[in-house]
Amino acid sequence: MKGTRAEDGMKGTRATRVVLFLLFVLLCCTKAASGFKENEFKTCAKSSFCQRLRSVPPEHKYVIESLEADDSGAVRGKVSVVDEDAEDETLHKDIDFALLAYESGVLRLKVSQPGRFEVPEVLLDDLKQVPLTSQSKASAQEIFQFQNSLVVVTLSPMKVEVYGDKSKITTPTVVFNENSLFNFERQVKPGENGSSEWAETFLSHSDTRKNGPMGLSIDVHFPGANHVFGIPERATRFSLPPTKEVHANGEKVLHEPYRLYNLDVFEYLHDHPFGLYGSIPFLTAKKVGSTTGAFWLNAAEMYVDIWKTDKGTSTQWVSESGIVDLFFFIGPEPKDVARQYSSMTGGTQMPQLFSLGYHQCRWNYKDEEDVATVDSNFDHFGIPCDVIWLDIEHTDGKRYMTWDKAHFPTPENMQNSLAEKGRKMVAIVDPHIKKDDSYHIFKEAQGKSYFVRNKDGTDFDGWCWPGSSMYLDMLNPEIRKWWATKFVPEVFKGSTESLYIWNDMNEPSVFNGPEITMHKDNLHYNDIEHRDVHNIYGYLYHMATAEGLVYRGDKSLAKPSDRAFVLSRAFFSGSQRVGPVWTGDNTADWNHLKVSIPMCLTLGVSGLTFSGADVGGFFGNPNSELLTRWYQLGIFYPFFRAHAHIDTKRREPWLFEESVMSNIRSAIQLRYNLMPYIYTLFHMAHKDGAPVMRPIWYEFPEQEDTFSSEDAFLFGPSLLVSPVLEEGAKAVNVLFPGKDLWYDLFGDKVYDAEKTPRVPMPVTMESIPVHVRGGSIIPRRMRPRRNTEAMKKDPFTIVVALDKNQEARGSFYLDDGSSFDFQQKRKFLSSTFVFKNYRLENDVYHNALYFTNEFTKVEKIIVRGLKRKVGKVDGNMTKIKDFSCTQEGGTWTLVIKKPDLSLTENWSLKL
Ligand code: GLC
Repeated sequence: MKGTRAEDGMKGTRATRVVLFLLFVLLCCTKAASGFKENEFKTCAKSSFCQRLRSVPPEHKYVIESLEADDSGAVRGKVSVVDEDAEDETLHKDIDFALLAYESGVLRLKVSQPGRFEVPEVLLDDLKQVPLTSQSKASAQEIFQFQNSLVVVTLSPMKVEVYGDKSKITTPTVVFNENSLFNFERQVKPGENGSSEWAETFLSHSDTRKNGPMGLSIDVHFPGANHVFGIPERATRFSLPPTKEVHANGEKVLHEPYRLYNLDVFEYLHDHPFGLYGSIPFLTAKKVGSTTGAFWLNAAEMYVDIWKTDKGTSTQWVSESGIVDLFFFIGPEPKDVARQYSSMTGGTQMPQLFSLGYHQCRWNYKDEEDVATVDSNFDHFGIPCDVIWLDIEHTDGKRYMTWDKAHFPTPENMQNSLAEKGRKMVAIVDPHIKKDDSYHIFKEAQGKSYFVRNKDGTDFDGWCWPGSSMYLDMLNPEIRKWWATKFVPEVFKGSTESLYIWNDMNEPSVFNGPEITMHKDNLHYNDIEHRDVHNIYGYLYHMATAEGLVYRGDKSLAKPSDRAFVLSRAFFSGSQRVGPVWTGDNTADWNHLKVSIPMCLTLGVSGLTFSGADVGGFFGNPNSELLTRWYQLGIFYPFFRAHAHIDTKRREPWLFEESVMSNIRSAIQLRYNLMPYIYTLFHMAHKDGAPVMRPIWYEFPEQEDTFSSEDAFLFGPSLLVSPVLEEGAKAVNVLFPGKDLWYDLFGDKVYDAEKTPRVPMPVTMESIPVHVRGGSIIPRRMRPRRNTEAMKKDPFTIVVALDKNQEARGSFYLDDGSSFDFQQKRKFLSSTFVFKNYRLENDVYHNALYFTNEFTKVEKIIVRGLKRKVGKVDGNMTKIKDFSCTQEGGTWTLVIKKPDLSLTENWSLKL
């Protein structure tokens, strides 16, 4: 299986391979034939800006001149750069400083300079600013207030302390420039400084910087915090290990700083600080009593150092260019940080319901017959599946949005026959455009000068799957609009409305480029260098594709037809508004199974919850045990897709022995049974940024022993998942957080977290250790079906798991699962379930009368953990006759059958 990214470029079945092969041999001659190659990628030591800024205190002092409020209530001033040795010598004064506050509890600090690039398209348009009011003004310090927070600005040297709770002004929540590492490289004239600041080489590539050194360094200190999380994407621990130690007598580097630079990393390792396909420059810090966050809106290459001292956790972030546009999220609870971050960058896109089902993918389903067989086998073996995927081989020579006529002669028929059963298809569309005059997309884009240019202004030509290719300049809004028009069936011939899209290789991946990507001195719209926009390139491409799907029913792009579904590999902050991501090319081994949890948790707490890893592992062949365990975990990835490399053995579930298939089927069915709960969780992510797959500390923020927990997690607020992650495991150690009860999802066992916080739980190959949190109510749909479409009319089962006070709550959200009516016409149903004083209530918050009672019937109610036997159930709407109450351990379980209730109506049941 071992190879290189360039050798992977040779996969497939077409004759062009021979020609490509000769060219790739040339490209590959410097590469040895085995997996991850660290030396293909830069480190801080090989990046001149990182060398100049990492751990280096600035030569000059940054002093804020006096501050003034503007009409919006923001506070603005100039920053002087002062020579430390000659105090009164101001070197220059062209840096602008601003502080802005927002209603949701966010403070924004901007340090900028004319001519530097500011990242577009990430922040929401309608940010709700609130004024900062001056509390006191002295020559050295000014204090401002917004809401309940205080902001203390020290003018010389510049420092900003934020106190989230003004009554507790002993310890700040977060501090900017505590360690005086803030630095802002001054633009110099060519030749003024050393040559390394103007040009550098890496392997055979050279990078010229037309603007000279433009690096920035910020330092953010989180007082008292002992854990920080975020800055995806990398395969490493959830609670980020420090990169260095700082002592009174100096510092010791432990490992590379964390790098944020979107790259196509071939056969990435399972435990490495190296940056992968996407970047979110957001960190959240935790200590008992508070959670805070910081987000730097900057899309250039970045390195982040983390070190811990007895004062808390300090961080230094250095970036190659751009401005400082830093947001502080004051918390204090994890859910507040999630809401605050999403108030700036957006919540999760409300997904298509089908996209929460199971996705079957491989590189590649060979032809239409292969697709039809896979499709019918799902039904034959009773395994639910919503989507079948086509990888790059379905195209005519890797010209995306075309079909290989020999193998896919009737693509519409193929999609329509899937659609008849309620299934969808996803086809891959990558951003590299094959350089071929007979390819209409290429021809048109070239005619309009829509491609990214070399530094000399000619079109940039790079290598990817089709061979010589060009890359659309997605920074230009006009080009994004043009791209979005390509998804109407008149242009994307052979597509139907049940076809959705997968964007891959959008870092962008360029096989012959520096670090398998584009040259930093390439030029975009308005002559912006690629270095400024690298980390948003993939996001902008993803966004334009999704726009294409939303408007594909209307060529003028005026009327949205349907929610998009576009999977992307590259991402940035804001990608959550567009669609899901996956963790790229993992490997079929147990370590990759394990690391998928911290990877998805990290994405989740960084606002991008709709994510998942390739179930089964992309490279290599999982044995049946690993594959089963991967499905048993994968059903809890927010995005649940099996995928495999072209060289691997086929691994659809029915190709394994009956017991293996049956365990996989049960796992997938569980995902579908939980769909009403999952859809409700996605609505929460949409509204408030709450992650679907969440760390235990998200719900139990005071329980320090769970802060670094990454082998178990919560699925929404109510389910604790403790997956089997070890080969041959006979037991799993389950840690029950909190002080309340946890109910085995499958059996009748109940655990009291106070009495037995850790329980070794025996497991077999059938086991999926999941526990329901006491105090929660979960809506389910229990009938086995072939996909989400087929479940739409099924009745609901309501599962009530009581806490020690005999109480429970839960919520429920439902809409049509595909259109924008929930937004534009408020067509949705939402309600709260409450159990209190032996009364269960459905309290409807909003019902657009869109759902008839017929589709929202309750077929069963289960109440677990009752302290007394129930002999009577009185309904306000209906007479309850069919119920039973049996003893389960020390408590009673009530099962009400066919209560003749609907979720569209308010009702109560008195026990
Ligand atoms: C990349 C993707 C992988 C895909 C392959 C071929 O390696 O990460 O998922 O199968 O390209 O398109």
